Amino acid sequence: MIRAVDILRERLGTLRPETAIILGSSLGPVAEAVAAPVRIPYRDLPGFPVPKISGHSGEVFAGHLSEKPILVLRGRGHPYEKGDAAVMRPVIEALKVFGVTRLILTNAAGSLKPDMRPGSIMLITDHINFSGMNPLIGEEGDKGFVPMTRAYDAALAEDFRQAAKAEKVKLHEGVYVWFSGPSFETPAEIRMAQSWGAHAVGMSTVPEVILARRFGLAVAGLSVITNLGAGIEGASPSHDETKSEGQKAVGDMVKLLLRFCTLTPSPREAGRGKGPAAERREG
Ligand code: HPA
Repeated sequence: MIRAVDILRERLGTLRPETAIILGSSLGPVAEAVAAPVRIPYRDLPGFPVPKISGHSGEVFAGHLSEKPILVLRGRGHPYEKGDAAVMRPVIEALKVFGVTRLILTNAAGSLKPDMRPGSIMLITDHINFSGMNPLIGEEGDKGFVPMTRAYDAALAEDFRQAAKAEKVKLHEGVYVWFSGPSFETPAEIRMAQSWGAHAVGMSTVPEVILARRFGLAVAGLSVITNLGAGIEGASPSHDETKSEGQKAVGDMVKLLLRFCTLTPSPREAGRGKGPAAERREG
């Protein structure tokens, strides 16, 4: 059986990125920042979900960001498409086997804080799984008992704080709550999520974080705020709004990711003390 990882290896030759970024709705332009990309459509990669909804395409862009090797995955499968919380498992497992060690997950989200307006970017520091689903249900043996205490990597988060400072991009921080979707939340659900201590709401990412931790990848998460949550100041979110408002933060997201790549050495480099993040990790 030809596996996705074999195809990635064959098409990418000696290029072996250790960092992968999954792009959320309308963040496609980030992929255009990849220098000299090798482009592989998801349909060529067994197990990769071919997105069927507007605002998402399915393609891997492999190349360099800020001269660092990178895999940018444009588009994701969502559990709400077929009720499969593990829809991204083949992707994340292939990345792991390919040699990726760090996964940066991005998404579009609704804000639960009136002062975090559309166009803002939020660093995800923790999450709440309110979907009732888990991609590890049915996992063999004890492998499903994945600790989620520090699901989001502290060193990667610090790199994003530094990148935001250097680029003068305001970086909010907070807790992301996963609702399964595809319908949007009611105002009562939004009030409940606020009272639970969540700051942003969305329909993705959490299952990917769980899978990534299962496979031992270091994770960072970034939300692009496209709207206020239902009922906040009378907001009534829609998919069209998500797509159009997402564009507002694309420029900042590109800046943030380009700068992040300059700061973050690969773990192999980190061992040799290259770059500020490496020094912090060592110190
Ligand atoms: N709710 C859920 N998912 C979302 C939202 C929202 O308000 N905005 C963008 N994705």
